[in-house]
Amino acid sequence: NRTEPFDYVIFGATGDLTRRKLLPAFLRRFHAGEFGQDTRLICVARSDYTPEAFRAYILEYLHKFAPDVAADQEVLRSFIDLLHYIQLDATHPESDWPSLREALPDPGRIRVFYLATAPSLYGQICAALATHDLISPSARMVLEKPIGTSLATAREVNSGVGRFFPEESIYRIDHYLGKEGVQNILALRFANPVLERLWSTEAIEYVQITAAETVGISGRGGYYDEAGALRDMVQNHLLQVLCMVAMDAPASLRADDLRNEKLKVLNALRPMTPDMVRQNVIRGQYTAGRLKGQDVADYTHDLGTGRASNTESFVAIRTKIRTARWGNTPFYLRTGKRLATKTTEIVIQFRPQPWPIFTNMPSSGRLVIRIDPHGELALVLGVRDPGAGGLRVRNATLSMSYEHGFSISYQDSYERLLLDAVRGDPALFIRRDEVEASWKWVEPILETWRQGLTPLEPYAAGGWGPPSTRALLARDGALWHEDM
Ligand code: BG6
Repeated sequence: NRTEPFDYVIFGATGDLTRRKLLPAFLRRFHAGEFGQDTRLICVARSDYTPEAFRAYILEYLHKFAPDVAADQEVLRSFIDLLHYIQLDATHPESDWPSLREALPDPGRIRVFYLATAPSLYGQICAALATHDLISPSARMVLEKPIGTSLATAREVNSGVGRFFPEESIYRIDHYLGKEGVQNILALRFANPVLERLWSTEAIEYVQITAAETVGISGRGGYYDEAGALRDMVQNHLLQVLCMVAMDAPASLRADDLRNEKLKVLNALRPMTPDMVRQNVIRGQYTAGRLKGQDVADYTHDLGTGRASNTESFVAIRTKIRTARWGNTPFYLRTGKRLATKTTEIVIQFRPQPWPIFTNMPSSGRLVIRIDPHGELALVLGVRDPGAGGLRVRNATLSMSYEHGFSISYQDSYERLLLDAVRGDPALFIRRDEVEASWKWVEPILETWRQGLTPLEPYAAGGWGPPSTRALLARDGALWHEDM
C-alpha cells in the first residue's frame, strides 16, 4: 500500500510532538514500505541547526521512541536521508521562506503542511505560505490540536486557515480517531446487527467513557496550566469517542457521511446552564499521593511556578443526548492526570432484568470496549454458578484481546493519520463544524468555572478523582467501572 512520492513539511520540527510522535511514526511506516526513498520530510523550526546537526539530534529520539525499527541500520540510514531542515521563524516576515520554496520545487507532487506549532500561529503561517506561493493545487494542511481555547478563538484559527485552504484540504488531527479501538467502534456497531439493535436507551442504562492517566503535568505545565483537562481532553478526544458511540449509522464510510452523523450528536448534547454545571460537572486537581508504590507530588509542585493554580487536572461530566435513541440514557465522561491506572475505555451498561427470578443478581449485561493500554472487548454476562447449589448467577466474561487475536503492526495512532493526509482521506479528521460544535457545548462549563461558581476539588494522586465523582453516578444508581 505504497503512497505516491510526497513532500511533507513539518512546522515545529524541534518540538516534543515531532520528536516523540511524528518522526518515529514516519520511520515505522517507512520501515513498513509505505513510502519510498523519493519522499521528502522537510522539517522547519526556529532553532539554528545545520541539516547534519538536525539529523544527529533526531537520531537520538528515533532510537528512543522507535527502538525496534531504528535497530535496522540500513532502514534508519535511508530514512535519515529523507530529512531536510530549514531554519525559519514563522512570525517573522523577513524569514527564510525562499529556502523553503527552493526545497519544494515541484508543485505537481503531493504536498502536505503539518502545523505542530502554537495554534495562534496557524493563520500567520498560512498567509506566509500564500505570499511565498507555496500552496500548490494539491496542497493539504494538517492541524494539530488545540484548535483554539474557546469558540471565538477556534473560529479565528479556522478562518485564518480557511482563507488559504479549502475545507476539504484541511485535516484536523484528533489522535484518538487513529486508535484501533476507537475505529473498531464503527465495525462493532455497524457490522453487528445483534448489537446495533440493542444500541439505544431501551436496552442501555448508561454509558461511561474514561480516559485515565497516571502521568502528571510535569514537563508541560506551561501549556497544561493554561488549558486544563476540559480543553486538553474533553473538548476533543472524549467528545469524539462519545460521537462514535452515540451516532446513527452513516450512509457510507465516506468522510462527510461520518462527520455529518458525529455533528448531529454534538448538536444534540444537552446544553449546560450554570445550574447544570454545578450539578453535573466535577472538577478536581491532584494532591500528593502514592501511585504504583511511589510517592508523587501535587499539581502545584509539578507546575513548578511556586504559585497555586486554579486549573483542573480532572473532570467528570454527566450529560444526556437529546434524541429518540438516547433520551433517557446518561453518558458519563471522565478524564484526569495522576489517576490509579492508565486506561481508556468505554463501558456500556445494559438495563437489568425487570423482574428478577434469581435470588441473587450480580450486575451483568455489560460491554467493555477497552482502547488503551491494550485493545480489548469484554462482554460480561450472568451465567449459572456451577459451584453453588440451586440456581445462583455469577458473572463470566467473554473477551477478545487485539494483541492476542491479531498481530497489529501499528504502534501509534499517528502512524495511521500522517499518511491518510497524503492519501487524501479525511475520514479520521475533524471537520470545522465539529470543532466549533464541541466548543459551543464546552464553553458554558468554562464560563461557569470562570465565575467561580463551582469548587476545584482536591483528589489524592493514585486514586480515581474527588469523592464527589462517585456521588455523581450514585444519583442514577450507577457505578464507575472500578466499583462494579
Ligand atoms: C493529548 C493530551 O492530546 O492526549 C495529553 O494533550 C494526554 O495531555 C494525551 O496525555 C493522552 O493521549 P493517549 O493516547 O496517551 O491517551
